[in-house]
Amino acid sequence: MVNDVKLRKKPQKSENDHSNKSTQDKDEIKPKYGPMPRNTTFRVLSRGVMIIGVMVYVWYYSNGKRESSLAKQNTIYQTRGQHVDCHPDFINEIKGFPGCVPKKCGRFVSDRIVTEYEADILLWFAKRGMALTNVSGGAAIIDLHSGTMSYQDKFMNFYRANLSYFITPTDLHTYKGVREKIQSAVADFFGINVDSLYLTHPTFFSRLSNKEAVTLNDQYWHIHVDKHTYESFHYTTLLYLNDYETDFKGGRFMFVNDFNKPTKNITVEPRKGRVSMFTSGAENPHFVEKVSEGQRYAITISFTCNEKKKINDPTMKTSH
Ligand SMILES: *[C@@H]1O[C@H](CO)[C@@H](O)[C@H](O)[C@H]1NC(C)=O
Ligand SMILES: *[C@@H]1O[C@H](CO)[C@@H](O)[C@H](O)[C@H]1NC(C)=O
Ligand SMILES: *[C@@H]1O[C@H](CO)[C@@H](O)[C@H](O)[C@H]1NC(C)=O
Repeated sequence: MVNDVKLRKKPQKSENDHSNKSTQDKDEIKPKYGPMPRNTTFRVLSRGVMIIGVMVYVWYYSNGKRESSLAKQNTIYQTRGQHVDCHPDFINEIKGFPGCVPKKCGRFVSDRIVTEYEADILLWFAKRGMALTNVSGGAAIIDLHSGTMSYQDKFMNFYRANLSYFITPTDLHTYKGVREKIQSAVADFFGINVDSLYLTHPTFFSRLSNKEAVTLNDQYWHIHVDKHTYESFHYTTLLYLNDYETDFKGGRFMFVNDFNKPTKNITVEPRKGRVSMFTSGAENPHFVEKVSEGQRYAITISFTCNEKKKINDPTMKTSH
């Protein structure tokens, strides 16, 4: 609006300047029927064009304000992130775990932690596993730690059902290596001690599609705070296994500026091997945009500072 006023004032000013000069006044009297109307039409037109231009600019600018991008699919980021003020509840709770308190809360994205090769191994694994889920809704999960797997419109335990044959030692080895690298990255970005962090439940693979939601679990597009859902969480990380726009449409991850009155989305477009890391408190409300086409694969890897809430890396033994 400031720009609007400025731009509209300028032409008025120059008109005044012109009329102040007597020579200019004389010039204006001369062409009685000639250029004058044309000039006025032009002036009206150009002013109209300018006002429309300003309106488009203001609209575009404010639209840019409603949505901003943290990570684009076609860009490779060493690190990109932003700090946000920790929610007081988050700080108060995490203070009980020395060595685990972040220097600053926030969110980071990096494409340099997990290789494309590692992401492919985990994607192939997820595809093999998801083939067993036969889900009717839009979301399917596989949890290697507990053995929970979506099955039709509910869950089953694939260890108990003797279905763990789809897991290979390479999968588990890759999974553990990736978990360790992500844990180090979280410690680096948030300035905490890597040994103060523990893997926690739930840590799981997910596949989202545009199928109708059947259960509440399918409704991934509601704004939420991880710590409200899972009290043990302190740092949430996501590893994307396939590509936004290529493998699926929709399905962008969105942080929102305010849980109750969201007026701005800060988007992360999934990219194979991309890791997103954020503090799990109310400073990071978020949701996943509905997938409109294709299937979106990702892993949620969750960390806690509370050793009592620690879970172990899965091993082949777990499956016996
Ligand atoms: C998959 O689920 C449908 C019902 O949702 C069922 O009719 C079908 O038999 C199931 N297939 C397998 C392989 O379990
Ligand atoms: C799984 O295998 C074990 C041992 O081979 C067997 O006792 C059990 O009944 C099987 N469970 C199912 C659900 O098939
Ligand atoms: C944020 O994104 C969602 C889903 O695309 C959309 O419905 C909502 O209007 C967006 N919010 C703002 C403030 O633009």
